[in-house]
Amino acid sequence: MINLGVIGYGSRMHGLVSTVFRRVDADVRVVGIVDPDEAGVRARLEPRDQDAVFHESLDEMVRAGGLDGLAIGTRCNLHAPYAIQAAEYDLPLYLEKPVAISMQQATDLERAFRKTACSVVVSFPLRVSPLCVLARQYIEEGAVGSAVHVTAVNYVPYGTVYWEAPYRNWEITGGLFLQKATHDLDYLMYLMGSPIVRVAAMAARGHVFGGTKASGLICSECDEQETCLESPQNRQRNGSTGVYQDHPCVFSVDCGSVATHLNADASSTLVEFGSGAHGAYTQVCYARRDAATRGATVSGYLGTVTFDWYTNELRRVRHHAPYSATERASGNMSHFGGDLELARDFIGLIKGTATSRTPIETGLRSVYACLAASESADNGTFVPVRQVSL
Ligand SMILES: NC(=O)c1ccc[n+]([C@@H]2O[C@H](COP(=O)([O-])OP(=O)(O)OC[C@H]3O[C@@H](n4cnc5c(N)ncnc54)[C@H](O)[C@@H]3O)[C@@H](O)[C@H]2O)c1
Repeated sequence: MINLGVIGYGSRMHGLVSTVFRRVDADVRVVGIVDPDEAGVRARLEPRDQDAVFHESLDEMVRAGGLDGLAIGTRCNLHAPYAIQAAEYDLPLYLEKPVAISMQQATDLERAFRKTACSVVVSFPLRVSPLCVLARQYIEEGAVGSAVHVTAVNYVPYGTVYWEAPYRNWEITGGLFLQKATHDLDYLMYLMGSPIVRVAAMAARGHVFGGTKASGLICSECDEQETCLESPQNRQRNGSTGVYQDHPCVFSVDCGSVATHLNADASSTLVEFGSGAHGAYTQVCYARRDAATRGATVSGYLGTVTFDWYTNELRRVRHHAPYSATERASGNMSHFGGDLELARDFIGLIKGTATSRTPIETGLRSVYACLAASESADNGTFVPVRQVSL
């Protein structure tokens, strides 16, 4: 049996435990939980986990004994505070992203992990997804020569979620660089084999989502639900991606304002790598349906490697020979197969048979790059990225 202690057993953690971790090892059990919403958690827990004991604190849960690993699945603002506590123990830790939402949290977290026996799997499924790993393999084998440039895009077809509670709450997420780009900037560092050292970013806010609709407004109480493209009935009628249930208004003052905080409809980040290569990453959160695309194009003098997770395709072009190749991955797995890979690492860490491919420094590097992008978008300047020294 693999006994897990979970801090924050919400929908993400439930999905991971019940459909991903247990695919790797059916003997995973949730035996301890720290979560103030016991009723909500019990409604999610599978019958085999109903004996789990609820604890007041992480410390109390660890002291109760019998744990083989910890998993933190709270909302973003609590990842770092709980991870700092977890660093006290010699237990493998699965940690949701972003690992921190402020510079203070990130530097405190880095300090906590300078001296610890706690090994971490940061929840970065894209980095370990088979398609991304294959692209990196080709790059390492010389498919592009020395990697000079990368272009990466993320046209998010489910982006309305960022203006429907609670992702629209800046105090919880710190904005969409940390919430969304943290994945992409992480896998770009992996692909390019080099950390991001400097960024310049721009963000478009208030063009699409956010607005002046009343606080607390939900579709079922709105007199525009027949015409609004975001009402459940119109999303359904138009085959538009997003939830089809009644939901908070994405044009409400509750989304924040340009003057204070408001999630960006779209943003672009110029990134410079330690190797001297550079590139650009753009995320567009109002895209829908077939506009979905997420992936990267890496090039050098000898060739180009490009892939897209939505088409599940990778293409290699030799610049100086008459050959190009397209490879298609099969399957339709959670986070493009990346969640399963993370689960393999985590369970392997617990059993002593694997090491983490997404250790704490990957989470920290990405957070430092995202914080720099956020600062740059606010100030209009190039911002150096703090480097991790563990
Ligand atoms: N890695 C990925 O690809 C990925 C995908 C989806 C979500 N996420 C991340 O997962 C996290 C959780 O998202 P979710 O949709 O499951 O949210 P959720 O609200 O469903 O779950 C959060 C849980 O934390 C609990 N909680 C609240 N306060 C707490 C406290 N003080 N101590 C302990 N638990 C507390 C809540 O009761 C809830 O059960 C978010 O940070 C999100 O960014 C990551």
